[in-house]
Amino acid sequence: MSDAYGARGNTDRSITKGGETGTLGAHPGTGQAMDTSNAYLIGDSMTGGYGQGPDILHGCTVAVNPGEIAVIVGPNGAGKSTAMKAVFGMLPLRAGSVRLDGEDITGLTPQARVAKGMGFVPQTSNIFPSMTVEENLEMGAFVRRDDFRGTMEQVYDLFPILKDKRHQAAGELSGGQRQQVAVGRALMTKPKVLMLDEPTAGVSPIVMDELFDRIIEIARTGLPVLMVEQNARQALAIADKGYVLVQGANAHTGTGKELLADEQVRRSFLGG
Ligand SMILES: Nc1ncnc2c1ncn2[C@@H]1O[C@H](COP(=O)(O)OP(=O)(O)OP(=O)(O)O)[C@@H](O)[C@H]1O
Ligand SMILES: [Mg+2]
Repeated sequence: MSDAYGARGNTDRSITKGGETGTLGAHPGTGQAMDTSNAYLIGDSMTGGYGQGPDILHGCTVAVNPGEIAVIVGPNGAGKSTAMKAVFGMLPLRAGSVRLDGEDITGLTPQARVAKGMGFVPQTSNIFPSMTVEENLEMGAFVRRDDFRGTMEQVYDLFPILKDKRHQAAGELSGGQRQQVAVGRALMTKPKVLMLDEPTAGVSPIVMDELFDRIIEIARTGLPVLMVEQNARQALAIADKGYVLVQGANAHTGTGKELLADEQVRRSFLGG
C-alpha cells in the first residue's frame, strides 16, 4: 500500500477535486462546495418508498467518483439501505434520477444496471450459503461471456483465505469471511462502480480494519466505492465523501475528515 492512504485516512489530494478542501473549509459540513452533479454515479434528489407506502427517501442525494470512497452513515432506519436500493433500481423513484457515467439510468432494472457496470452487495442475504466459495464467485461472473479466471485470481489475491476455503460451503465461513465472499462475488462482474451495504456488519474490530484496508485497496485501483457503514467514525476516516442521512434526507455532507470534525455531527451521530 502506498502512502496515499498511509494513515488510513485518505489524504491523497489527487483523488479529490482540486480546490475543494479550501472552499469546503468555509462551509464546514454543509457540503455546499461539493458539486456532485457530474459525478460518475449519482442518485440525485431521490424521493420514493416501498410499493404504495409513504416516501422513505426525501430528496436524498448520494454520489461517488472514480478513485473515491463515499460513505453513507446515519441512524438505524434512516433510509441508508433504501437509498442504496434506489440507486440499484430496486425501488421506483417518485422524483429524482440516477445517472451512471452521464447516462440517465433511472428507468433501468437492476439486471440492466449490473450489465452497465454496477456491482451491489446488499446488507442481507448477500451470499449463497449452501454453495461453495468458488461457486459463489462463479455466480458473480454469470453476466460475463469472457474468461473470468483472471478476475477470480485477483479476488483470491485480495482475499487469500477464500482461496484456501474455495471448496467449502460459504455458509460455513465466519462472518468476516462471508463478507469477503460477498464483495468478491460483486467484483467478479468486473464492475465499474462498487456499492456495499454495511460490509463490516457483525465483524470484530480487527476484521473490520482488514476489510476497510481491502476496500481502500479496491478504491485505489480507480473503482468508485459507495458504501453504507454502521461504524461511522472508522468509515468516515477513510471517506473522500461522507453523507449523514436522517429520515431519508441529507443532514450533513462533506469530506469524511470534515464530518469527523463537525461539532454537530460529532454530538448527534458519533457520540461526542
Ligand atoms: N421492504 C420494505 N418494505 C417496506 N418498508 C421498508 C422496507 N425496507 C425498509 N423499510 C422501511 O424503510 C425505512 C428505512 O429503512 P432502511 O432499511 O433503508 O434503513 P437503514 O438506514 O438501512 O437502517 P439500518 O441501519 O438498520 O440498516 C424504515 O422505516 C423501514 O421500516
Ligand atoms: Mg440498512
